[in-house]
Amino acid sequence: MNIAIAASECAPFAKTGGLSDVIGSLPKALAKLGCTVKVFLPKYSVINESEYPMRLDLSIGEMQVRVGGFPRTVHVLKSKLPDSDVQVYFIDCPHYFHRARIYTSDWDEDERFTLFQKSVIEALQRLQWRPDVIHCNDWQTGLLPLLLRDNYGWDRFFDKTATVLSIHNIAYQGWFSRDAGIRAELRKEHLDKGGLAEWGGGVNFLKTGLLTADLLTTVSETYAREILTPQYGYGMEIILNWRKQDLFGILNGIDDEVWNPQTDKFIPFHFSAENLEGKEKNKQFLLDQTTINYHPNVPLIGIISRLVSQKGFDLIEQEVHWLMQKNAQWVILGSGEDRFENLFTWMAHEFPHKVWTYIGFNTELSHLIEAGADMFLMPSHYEPCGLNQMYSLRYGTVPIVHKTGGLADTVQDWDEYAYKGEPIGNGFSFEEPSGFALSHAVHRAIEAYHNKPLWRRIQQNGMMKDFSWTNSARKYIHIYKRAKAKRS
Ligand code: ADP
Ligand code: GLC
Repeated sequence: MNIAIAASECAPFAKTGGLSDVIGSLPKALAKLGCTVKVFLPKYSVINESEYPMRLDLSIGEMQVRVGGFPRTVHVLKSKLPDSDVQVYFIDCPHYFHRARIYTSDWDEDERFTLFQKSVIEALQRLQWRPDVIHCNDWQTGLLPLLLRDNYGWDRFFDKTATVLSIHNIAYQGWFSRDAGIRAELRKEHLDKGGLAEWGGGVNFLKTGLLTADLLTTVSETYAREILTPQYGYGMEIILNWRKQDLFGILNGIDDEVWNPQTDKFIPFHFSAENLEGKEKNKQFLLDQTTINYHPNVPLIGIISRLVSQKGFDLIEQEVHWLMQKNAQWVILGSGEDRFENLFTWMAHEFPHKVWTYIGFNTELSHLIEAGADMFLMPSHYEPCGLNQMYSLRYGTVPIVHKTGGLADTVQDWDEYAYKGEPIGNGFSFEEPSGFALSHAVHRAIEAYHNKPLWRRIQQNGMMKDFSWTNSARKYIHIYKRAKAKRS
């Protein structure tokens, strides 16, 4: 099967969160299962071209892609996903993509991704490469199914091409004023009240995709159920209930070459489920670079995250004084909203021997924290899938999570009382999103940590579990086939 994947992030080229990890790894798994996959990504100036050499695709040539009636010159560069034959095409339009960040709040944010989506379609036309499926991801590609059928509907080349839209986070919808729809050259009827693209008088890219893609997926089974409710659906629940038969939850996999404690290129000491010695050495190595002294019997709790309200750090804020009384140490990596940056900076300042905080984005440090921490905290209010809890499980770093979305599907709460019988569980989870429930879960984890054989068991239960892409990639292929059947 020929699969074109369009997305706004792809590791290792451009990353702000988990979408990037998925787009950097799912295509490789699909290719291993026999698909021909081409990935399309904007050519942001943050992409380091010296690290990832790319060249102009001469067969595509120079394109003039129209947004808001103006033609913009677009070149398409190409490279490959590292360690694979998967082609990545970079849509190069400096006017839109040479900015300080991947996402901006500039007035023309809609135009940036409208240009991207149109360019993907036009590049496919020029390549004369007909995908069986165009797999879209999140709002940045939400208009693509409609554009394909409507604006480019004249081109019979795509008649049999199906579209699948994956929801990685329904809270981000690409909701703009009506002008954005005019600039995208959508037909007036789609922008009028009740139209396919209309939302609250404006235009909503994600909503458009939810109505027009042949099939929809999201990144865990629990999240697929949650988004049908007003609590999690961010207004899209009515549409999703209507399209329930076309919505599937497929758990993300992880790139088990990049995230493998036996080979990880960012960590000094490798280790495995059978031999965890290297893990303790990584902990020492990590702490040596911080204000915290290493103590073999004090657990180290790690956090690596975008610091946004989704991630539940308000629960830490509520309980911070209690948590700081516990005999545990904390290493925190993240950036985002001031409120949480200030909270974690304050904690590090007040308790320098307990807490160390790094505000910023740092891939190397993220691997080192996964390798060196004993526990990993993810109190997310909602979490479509979440990758760090899976990396943590793989690295013997026991996750403590709020039981929601993909966290509920991957972390099984350790049952202290069942321990004497059949030992089950690979982490600690709490159901009620409250500071108290979080503290209680942290408390249980610290207690368990001091019982070494039990702790080893919990770690190994996590490390043994297979989170590779193989199973999930098969499920995607199944969805692609269904979408294609629907189209024909
Ligand atoms: P989300 O996509 O909502 O941010 P995920 O858990 O799916 O959450 O994925 C987050 C990804 O981004 C992980 O690979 C994580 O390691 C990475 N990440 C988040 N913040 C940082 C940071 N400050 N530095 C390095 N990596 C980070
Ligand atoms: C989103 C979600 C996260 C998910 C990631 C990849 O950013 O917030 O839970 O793991 O996408 O699908």
